[in-house]
Amino acid sequence: MTSGPTSPDPSANPKWAELAAAAAAVPTIRDLLDADPGRPARSTVSAAGITLDFARQQITPQALAALIELAEKQGVFDRRTAMFAGEHINTTEDRAVLHTALRLPRGARLIVDEVDVVSEVHEVLDLMGNFAKSVRNGKWRGATGKRINAIVNIGIGGSDLGPAMAYQALRDFSKRDMGFHFVSNVDPTDLSEVLRSLDPARTLFVIASKTFSTLETMTNGRAARAWLVSALGEKAVINHFVAVSSNRELVEKFGIDSKNMFGFWDWVGGRYSMDAAIGLSTMIAIGPKAFSQLLAGFHAMDKHFETARADQNLPVIMGLLAVWNRDFLNISTNAVLPYSQYLSRFPAYLQQLTMESNGKRVRLDGTPVTYQTGAIVWGEPGTNGQHSFYQLIHQGTSPVACDIIVIAQSDNPLGDQQNMLIANALAQAAVLARGRTIDEVAADGTSKELAPHKVMPGNRPTSVISAPRLDPFTLGALIALYEHSVFVQGALWGINSFDQWGVELGKKVALGILAVIDGQADMSTVDVATAHSIEVLATQGRA
Ligand code: F6P
Repeated sequence: MTSGPTSPDPSANPKWAELAAAAAAVPTIRDLLDADPGRPARSTVSAAGITLDFARQQITPQALAALIELAEKQGVFDRRTAMFAGEHINTTEDRAVLHTALRLPRGARLIVDEVDVVSEVHEVLDLMGNFAKSVRNGKWRGATGKRINAIVNIGIGGSDLGPAMAYQALRDFSKRDMGFHFVSNVDPTDLSEVLRSLDPARTLFVIASKTFSTLETMTNGRAARAWLVSALGEKAVINHFVAVSSNRELVEKFGIDSKNMFGFWDWVGGRYSMDAAIGLSTMIAIGPKAFSQLLAGFHAMDKHFETARADQNLPVIMGLLAVWNRDFLNISTNAVLPYSQYLSRFPAYLQQLTMESNGKRVRLDGTPVTYQTGAIVWGEPGTNGQHSFYQLIHQGTSPVACDIIVIAQSDNPLGDQQNMLIANALAQAAVLARGRTIDEVAADGTSKELAPHKVMPGNRPTSVISAPRLDPFTLGALIALYEHSVFVQGALWGINSFDQWGVELGKKVALGILAVIDGQADMSTVDVATAHSIEVLATQGRA
């Protein structure tokens, strides 16, 4: 492990106790709003085409200022400088954390570990661009000479969620005469259901795996290869498989020509890689020009995060509000509610980004945290969620913080539907924040017996994040906003947001159990509960 910037215990800082006292005395959101008509305008900040309105958060301006001071004292802003400079802030893996370099414009300069990072990034982007163009314009052909009409991205985690989310989000910018499919699960159903409608002669597989050793991806990749070979023969593999990876040796071993491998670097974490070569399927879908707009959106938010003063800085404010909600208001969960069907995979994408990053229990120096870290993130697009889980958010016993994402203009105007969508988003923001008192319920003429059932406590901290239109630039900026918010949270907590040791053990244990199921290891190698479950599933006809 290299030595990184120090990460003192934030809860030992006197500001922490000050914030705890402020939280104990904080007025309700309704009172904060009613006492200060200027609050909404003063609680709204914009950058890179995104507007954050945090007026409906349960925080006073003084508490936000104290959080900024705490962040300063904890070295959050020094750590930001270290990240942008390419220092090895991922100390447990001894790596730089440089996803921000993936979107630096051509000609920018960044030398890290004696390597000109920007030239390398643009070299790969150019290769991807040429390849994407040739698939889109039909120059790249399948083994029988037919044009490709289906792209299947095989990957998992960061090698799937980003591309799958971005394809869905930017569908309106995509090449509509091509199909894009995403296979991630080792459940054989995932691949089988995709393949059943595809013509092998017109299908291109993108095997996306940084390590090229992830069990799910390699298993699906081999099955896809077998499917193709059985239809077109071994020689066809070269025309129908490309790889995105940082492991050339394993790519070649798989039988993919390394000319058709798009590389990236160990300083790009899986969950931060959708704008690296992992975005190849996105680039084929929307074209290299739109992909460069996506990168420009990321970069605009990076610049804002790097340079704007803290009290006007969207990711800083969002990150600090997340810490406030988690540690001082004791809210353990955050619902992400996009009022945009195009963003339907965005909550799933954010689950990995936020929970794999900040689901940590020790600080950088290995000492256990004595405070809460990453919140549980989940969500579904509005208005669908309103008819499902919002009931619990409104009247359940566990408070939930909410991000309501609103896109002002629809790319598919249809009657008054966009206005209805926006009205619903704002109605939910109002009800979540303000609730409904017993007096208001009674004023409706509701009976005494029924009235308590209709009371809404409100006081659900809610941010409204909005943008004029969902285009590639906006999507890039929106993702970077969350990336940097996650960074701010992790830096304040003093944890490493860039490793993921917690997922490793499960992978290892699964291999041991597989050996038992396949008859290659003895039942005594697994614990009694696992042995019992293996037996139960055997009686149920497990293959
Ligand atoms: O689940 C852990 C993880 O390492 C993620 O961080 C990563 O995005 C995913 O697995 C896939 O890894 P790879 O791209 O190496 O196949």
